[in-house]
Amino acid sequence: MSETDNTAGFMSMKGGGYYSKATIGAKHVIDNATHLIIEALDRMGSLDEKSTFTMSDMGCADGGTSISMVGKVLKEIRKRAPSRPIQMVYTDLPKNDFSQVFQNVHGQTDVETYIDDLENIFVFSSATSFHKPIFPAGTLNLGFSATASHYISEKPGVISNHVHMVGAKGDERAAYEEQGRLDWEGMLINRANDLAPNGRLALFNFGIDENGYYLGSTGGKNMFDTFNQLWKALAEEDIITHEEYVNTNFPQSYRTVEQFTAPFNDQENPVFKAGLRMEHVETRVVECPFALDFKKHKNPARFAKEYIPTLRSWSEATFVSGLSPERSMADKQKIVDTFYNNYQKLVEDNPEGHGMDYVHCYLILKKNG
Ligand SMILES: C[S@@+](CC[C@H](N)C(=O)[O-])C[C@H]1O[C@@H](n2cnc3c(N)ncnc32)[C@H](O)[C@@H]1O
Repeated sequence: MSETDNTAGFMSMKGGGYYSKATIGAKHVIDNATHLIIEALDRMGSLDEKSTFTMSDMGCADGGTSISMVGKVLKEIRKRAPSRPIQMVYTDLPKNDFSQVFQNVHGQTDVETYIDDLENIFVFSSATSFHKPIFPAGTLNLGFSATASHYISEKPGVISNHVHMVGAKGDERAAYEEQGRLDWEGMLINRANDLAPNGRLALFNFGIDENGYYLGSTGGKNMFDTFNQLWKALAEEDIITHEEYVNTNFPQSYRTVEQFTAPFNDQENPVFKAGLRMEHVETRVVECPFALDFKKHKNPARFAKEYIPTLRSWSEATFVSGLSPERSMADKQKIVDTFYNNYQKLVEDNPEGHGMDYVHCYLILKKNG
C-alpha cells in the first residue's frame, strides 16, 4: 500500500496551533453538545471507586477544540468521585502535532485550560490509530471523539470525477461506502474492547443528515464541488497533471444516520455482539461562524480571508498528498497556495452561498456490563 493510500501515512491537521485557531466551528460543535456527555455520566451511576478513571479524546488534533468540554466533563467526574485518580488520554495519528496538545493543556498558549483546576489528574497521549485497540481491554471509562471517524483507514480506489466520495458515482461511491462500513464496525469493535463495563462513548461524527445535508452542503454553494472545480481547473491549466487530479481523493466516508446506527439494530452484528448499545442519536447543523459573521459585516474580502483558513486547516494534507512524489515540497506548497488563493478569490468575487456549515450525527453508546 502506498503512503497516500494509507491514511495514517500522511494525515495531519495543520500544526503549530493553526488547526484549533482556524476551526472555531468545530469547537462550537463540541461545546454545544457537552450536555450529552454529562447526561451520559449521570446514567453511569456511582463513579466513586478506587481504580483510575480513564477518559480519552480520540482524533484530538491539537486538543484546542475540545479543551473547554474536557475541562467541564473532568470537573463533573471529580464531583462524582472526589478522590479517584483520573487520566486523560489524547490520541491521534503519529504525524499529529502532539507538542501543541501539551502546550495547550499545560497552559503554555493563550488557550484556557483546566489543568490547574483539578487535582489527581494525569494527562497522556497515544499515537495509535482509532482503527486499532488503543487501551488495555476493559479500562476506558469514557471515550470521546469528534469530527474524526469519517477518516477511513485507506482509500479503496480512486474517484475519477471528484475529490470526495460525496461526488462519486456508481462503483466508485459504493467502494467508499463499503470502506466506511468496514471501518465504522471495526472502530466500534475496538472501542467495545477498550471500554470498561458500563463505560460510555460520545461520538460526534461528520455525516449525511436526513435532508441529505453534509459538511459545506446545506443548500448554498457546495464546498466539495467547489474544491473539485478548482482542483480540476489546475489540471486544465497544466499546473497539475490529470493523474494528480485523479489521485487526489479525501480518505473519508460520510455515513448516513442509517449507516451509523445499523450495527446497533442487528443482534447478529459483531458490534452488537461485542456489547455496544446505542443510548442516543441525533443530527444537528451548526452554522459556519465565518458565514454568520459575514451576514453582519458584509465585507466579502474579509469573509474570504477569514473563511479559507478553516478549509485549509483540514484539507491541505489531502491536496498535498495527491501531488506526485517527484515534486519538491516547495513546488507542492506553491501549487496548494495557488489553489487556496483561487478559492479565496472566488469567495471574494461572489460570496453569496459560501460557507462550511457543520453537519453531525451525535451518538452516545454504552458498553454492557
Ligand atoms: C477534523 S480533525 C478533528 C479534530 C478534533 N477532534 C475536533 O473535533 O476539532 C480530525 C482528526 O482526526 C485525526 N484522525 C484521522 N484518522 C485518525 C485515526 N485513524 N486515528 C486517530 N486519529 C485520526 C486527524 O489526524 C485529525 O487530527
